[in-house]
Amino acid sequence: MNMNLDPAIIVLFGASGDLSARKVIPALYNLYLDGLLPERYEIVGVARSNFSDEVLRERLHEGVNRFSRRGPAEAAAWVAFARQIHYLQAEYDDSRLYERLLQRGDPSGEKQPNIIFYLATPPNLFSTIIEQLGKSPALRGDERYRIVIEKPFGHDLESAKALNQKLLHVFVEQQIYRIDHYLGKETVQNILAFRFGNAIWEPIWNRNYIDHVQITVAEKIGIGQRGRYYDSAGALRDMIQNHLMQLLCLIAMEAPSSFAADEVRNKKVDVLQAIRLISKEKVPEHAVRGQYGQGWVDGKPVQAYRREKDVYAVSNTETFAALKLFIDNWRWQGIPFYLRTGKMMPERISEISLQFRPVPHHPFAHLNAQVFQPNRLVIQIEPNEGVVLRTQAKEPGLGMQLKPVDMMYCYKDVFRRPSPDAYETLLVDIMRNDPGLFMRADQVEAAWNVIQPVLDVWGETAELNFPNYQPGQWGPAEAESLTARDRRTWLVPVSFEPKREGC
Ligand code: BG6
Repeated sequence: MNMNLDPAIIVLFGASGDLSARKVIPALYNLYLDGLLPERYEIVGVARSNFSDEVLRERLHEGVNRFSRRGPAEAAAWVAFARQIHYLQAEYDDSRLYERLLQRGDPSGEKQPNIIFYLATPPNLFSTIIEQLGKSPALRGDERYRIVIEKPFGHDLESAKALNQKLLHVFVEQQIYRIDHYLGKETVQNILAFRFGNAIWEPIWNRNYIDHVQITVAEKIGIGQRGRYYDSAGALRDMIQNHLMQLLCLIAMEAPSSFAADEVRNKKVDVLQAIRLISKEKVPEHAVRGQYGQGWVDGKPVQAYRREKDVYAVSNTETFAALKLFIDNWRWQGIPFYLRTGKMMPERISEISLQFRPVPHHPFAHLNAQVFQPNRLVIQIEPNEGVVLRTQAKEPGLGMQLKPVDMMYCYKDVFRRPSPDAYETLLVDIMRNDPGLFMRADQVEAAWNVIQPVLDVWGETAELNFPNYQPGQWGPAEAESLTARDRRTWLVPVSFEPKREGC
């Protein structure tokens, strides 16, 4: 694909940090290999460490070798790519840094480069950088300048509003790219193609046919070296406020009339605003929190969350969260959406299941009711990107015995080429100035608004049972009660293997 992108300077604040080495630079390097970077580009790494261009390049090289989806970098390609990486050592509150950055570019070049300010720093530096950028009023409204903000976008509704205000004082919305990397994932984008590129789903995609929806994003890993951040965040802020809420929007939204950025985002905001707010008294009925203790995963001992590095010894932070939400609109009235996410779960799996209602009457009454399963549509994002429709089939043999069978397709199998990493997709969209896959101010605030009552209640009350699940379990027993109270259960994730080669 020839993008013909305008020249760009990517100013990477926090260039010496984890995110730059793990995500941003490997993505840019892969875009370079695919010929998807502008012909003229420069990456200006900014950080406080005392580095040279060479030291920064070496550090980022290691990141690419470890984290690039293509594996270790090929020497010549890396050298050619890295030639365009430069380093600026500076304090973030030093106004001379910003003067130097804005003077950058090639004044003699035919086309002035776009300047993309990428904030890959810890969130406590966002304000300083935005304020400093705000000293140049020419930035506001000029789409040659764009700002990219990583999550966490605020710590709660109030701080998210304050951050939005600060940003919107310096930039207009069209210049702001708030990242939720889930939106860049292929299968997540495929939800829109699946729903609105096929006519057969729409008639059944509603309360008349769907019994409930489940969204699970489970991770097998713990918090690694991120204790400092994670202990002040927790699963609700880290995953539900952003990633799971966006998945819910894609499943629940009305059909957009086009894929124009604001049209799609308007439809998502409609969903968020229709989610019934949980009153404080009802939080225990609608929300469950968990924290892992010590135990074993894959035969290896795992220490309790409270013993992890940089975690408070009696931490009240949840590493598992589950919610039951209702959407008060015509399509979804009365249909529960169960969301759950956690660290140290039995499997790494991200999956959305639409459980359909049972048949109104079935003539197979003599069959074992256990065998009979209502239809289920599963969109799996991890570990296999694909879609499964569970139906009933007659087992071969005399008589009528039914058995659930899966109709499935798996991305790798069908398309037989690797998907780009979410960050690659998002970076290209930033460079071509398309904010459709990014979070608008009102989306972020509406999502905080939904979880705010739960945050409030959990913040006010310590969970005396922590730790309440062992590594390798699907969260605490209370999570089972959340669905069991409604005579439902959490669904067992579907397995693509070993049914199809390549899946
Ligand atoms: C991040 C969270 O946003 O998403 C992490 O901060 C989490 O805690 C990660 O591990 C999961 O992303 P992915 O793409 O690996 O599912």
